[in-house]
Amino acid sequence: MRILLISSSYNGLCQRAHVELEALGHDISITLALNPDDIRKGVTFFQPDLIICPFLKEKIPEDVWKKHHCFIIHPGIKGDRGPSSLDWAIMNGEKEWGVTVLQAVEEMDAGDIWATETFKMRQASKAGIYRRELTKAAIKAMLQAVRHVESKTFQPEPLDYSKPDVRGELRPLMKQVERKIDWATDHVATIIKKINAADSAPGVLDVIDNQEYYLYGAHEESLLQGWQPGEIIAQRHGAICRAAIDGAVWISHLKRKNIVKVPFYKRFLSHDKQFDFKLPAAKVLGSLLDETPESPIDPLFMGSELTFKEIWYEEKKQVGYLHFNFHNGAMSTTQCRRLLESYRLAVARPTKVLVLMGGSDFWSNGIHLNIIEAAENAANESWRNINAIDDIVLEILTTQTKLTVSAVWGGCGAGGAMAILAADKVWAREGVIFNPHYKTMGLYGSEYWTYSLPKRVGPVKALELTETPLPIGTKKAKAIGYIDEILPDDYDLYREQVRQKAEALAMDPYYRQLLEEKQKIRQKDERVKPLAAYRAAELQKMKINFSGKFYGGEVNYHEARYNFVHKVRPKETAAYLAKHMRLDAAKLSELRQPLAY
Ligand code: COA
Repeated sequence: MRILLISSSYNGLCQRAHVELEALGHDISITLALNPDDIRKGVTFFQPDLIICPFLKEKIPEDVWKKHHCFIIHPGIKGDRGPSSLDWAIMNGEKEWGVTVLQAVEEMDAGDIWATETFKMRQASKAGIYRRELTKAAIKAMLQAVRHVESKTFQPEPLDYSKPDVRGELRPLMKQVERKIDWATDHVATIIKKINAADSAPGVLDVIDNQEYYLYGAHEESLLQGWQPGEIIAQRHGAICRAAIDGAVWISHLKRKNIVKVPFYKRFLSHDKQFDFKLPAAKVLGSLLDETPESPIDPLFMGSELTFKEIWYEEKKQVGYLHFNFHNGAMSTTQCRRLLESYRLAVARPTKVLVLMGGSDFWSNGIHLNIIEAAENAANESWRNINAIDDIVLEILTTQTKLTVSAVWGGCGAGGAMAILAADKVWAREGVIFNPHYKTMGLYGSEYWTYSLPKRVGPVKALELTETPLPIGTKKAKAIGYIDEILPDDYDLYREQVRQKAEALAMDPYYRQLLEEKQKIRQKDERVKPLAAYRAAELQKMKINFSGKFYGGEVNYHEARYNFVHKVRPKETAAYLAKHMRLDAAKLSELRQPLAY
């Protein structure tokens, strides 16, 4: 079928829908819902058999949904309606939630039901549930709805609130008054629930020292305590710990309210750097934390107590598991340096295999664009950050004393999608989406990708992956040799398989030979071209990018980063997504041919 995806942004769910539908042989084009005319243009040029809206905040124009089969993927159970579905589900402590594929009609979310799936809720942020449970259920429901359309006999179910399985209801947009934390009466569990329900957007509005901030990234603390609820009692790695009536809670990120947005082209005129985007809490509060004690944590934290930790380690049966759960997978200079220290400590442990687990939502998304944007000198900070991430990748590439594995549960993009390749083996959860390219950020890229990527997929595929800024799914990734194994989508099964496979590797009767073979390959590769030469060549091009000049593309890194961090919507759908625009351009040039002769 010709399927047009209409989406508010090309987000993780839209990327996964794209990859899954294309893998089934459907012809896919994408249009961002930037305005009604853009949507109409996509529909007119592509002439789809079916329209699917994986993530839509805007209304579909009436003339579009009236003439075309149009599905909305709604993040709620049967009967649920409104723009804050998951927010309410978390706030109301729902044990089970779901996703429903609805036919678009005049009334929002009130159309016939084509498919529905449910999932168990867990204590996590809204974005975390969206990326894990909801995305998995949404893809299952979407594929079922597509099969129903193909069958041509399926009768969708009209929304009928008298049916016992229609448990949802119409709920309004959740407002800040409903999210508000009352530090004098709210327990830790309530505070965490409130922050989770608003994370990653819009955040919970709160007041610290007479200034309003949005709060993000809540973590329970089981040891520290304070007397005054709401008081900041400690800081660690950019996060702040605040006392509550029954314990304490860490808040990792803040965004200041009431900041006038400065457009990219005017940003050099503003003297005072004001951050209207999410940053580590300590960075936002600055000197306010001068007296706040730092609460240290072991670089190879192995404890079980609840606290804010970005890096921790587990060990069992000669296998070490290094977790690095950096917020949004973004890795700043200091985070990279801490990870390098932890990595070295993990390598020094008496194990045979070291598994790099990444984080719960992302393995890594490369350098930290928000921290760079907030730096006094963005070019210098970019340089420091890329070198710090390269140092980690180098350490993994040159680990000679044990076998290493990248176990990818969350997605990864840009530098993160290259960093996974530094390990000897790459295993990924079935639903992972990889974005192994830097083009959209106007970067040539580093992380030794010019060594690791062609080594795995060959030079032609390496060029194809890096030149076309499109995501790939695990089936394609395995077929081209980018990853070695696909593991189950279910978290418990995934963890169990990672454990079993890593232990099998450690116990392999040929372990010594495997290690020797790895050492020999590294030595041979080093003789052909030293890793330092790959790094120098990559960084030379990155330096050009950081200086604001273009390298092999039309995107300016500083502008692209500004737009990404400030969430500036593009003016039009990029041509690499909007196949209908490419088709149209091809048709136009065909039409022009006779005139040229
Ligand atoms: N630095 C800072 N923040 C980052 C980040 C980075 N490198 N990569 C992702 N994020 C943040 C996003 O701003 C977003 O923040 P929010 O949800 O708190 O508002 C969050 O992570 C999720 O990202 P999103 O783009 O919504 O996720 P996705 O699954 O739709 O897309 C990527 C994943 C990797 C394609 C996309 O995030 C991306 O292009 N990231 C930039 C990668 C990059 O260019 N890195 C620098 C070069 S090494």
